[in-house]
Amino acid sequence: MSDKLKLGVLISGRGSNLQSLIDATQDPNFPAEIVTVITNVPDVAGLDRATKANIPTTVINHKDFDGRAPFEDALHAALQEAGVELVCLAGFMRLLTDGFVNRWLDRMINIHPSLLPSFKGLHTHERAIKAGVRFSGCTIHFVRPEMDDGPIIAQAAVPIRQDDTADSLAARVLVEEHKIYPLAVRLIAENRVSIENSCVKIEGASHSEQALINPN
Ligand code: GRF
Repeated sequence: MSDKLKLGVLISGRGSNLQSLIDATQDPNFPAEIVTVITNVPDVAGLDRATKANIPTTVINHKDFDGRAPFEDALHAALQEAGVELVCLAGFMRLLTDGFVNRWLDRMINIHPSLLPSFKGLHTHERAIKAGVRFSGCTIHFVRPEMDDGPIIAQAAVPIRQDDTADSLAARVLVEEHKIYPLAVRLIAENRVSIENSCVKIEGASHSEQALINPN
C-alpha cells in the first residue's frame, strides 16, 4: 500500500484546481494521491477530469437530501469509505456546518480567490477592483466553521492592473491558484505544516526578500 497522503477533492464545477492537483500527483515523487473526487452538482466538467485520470468519482447531490445534516453525513461516509486523510475543497460551493468542519478539523483545506482575510465570500475580483487595492491574489487555508476563515498555509499576490476587469484579473489569479494548491498539499504531506495560536508554521520555509510594488 502506498504511504502517500490520501486526498479527497470536493468540487462543484469546472475543476481547474482539481486538474492542478491531478497534474501534480502524476509526478511519482509527489507525496500525495487523490483517492476520490466528490461533487455536489451532477454533470460538472470536473468529473470528466477525474474520470480521465482514473480517479473514482461520486455525486452526492445536496438536493437529494432533506437538510444539511444528512447531506454532510453522506459526504463524511464517502470520504471515510475512500480512506481520505485530507479533504481539499476546490471550488466546492456549499457552506459546511460546524459539525462537519469539526469532524475534519485541521484535515480540510480550501482555496479562495483573494488575499484573505480581505474579500471573503463571492465576487472577490470585482470587489477588489472596486476597492482600488493594488494587489489581489489567492489563499490556501485550513477550514474553520466561519466562511473563508482559518489558518493560512500559502498565498500568491497578483498585482491589479489599471485596465483589469473581473475576468482578466480572475484569469491571472487562477494561474497562481494552480501553483499554490499543489504547493500547500505537498507541504502538508511532507508533515512540515503545524498550527500554533491559529497561525500556520512551516518547517524549513524559505521566503523571497523582494517586496512587490505596484505600480512600478
Ligand atoms: C476558484 O477560483 C477557487 O478559488 C474558488 O472557486 C473557483 C473554482 O474554480 N473557490 P475551479 O472549479 O477549480 O476551476
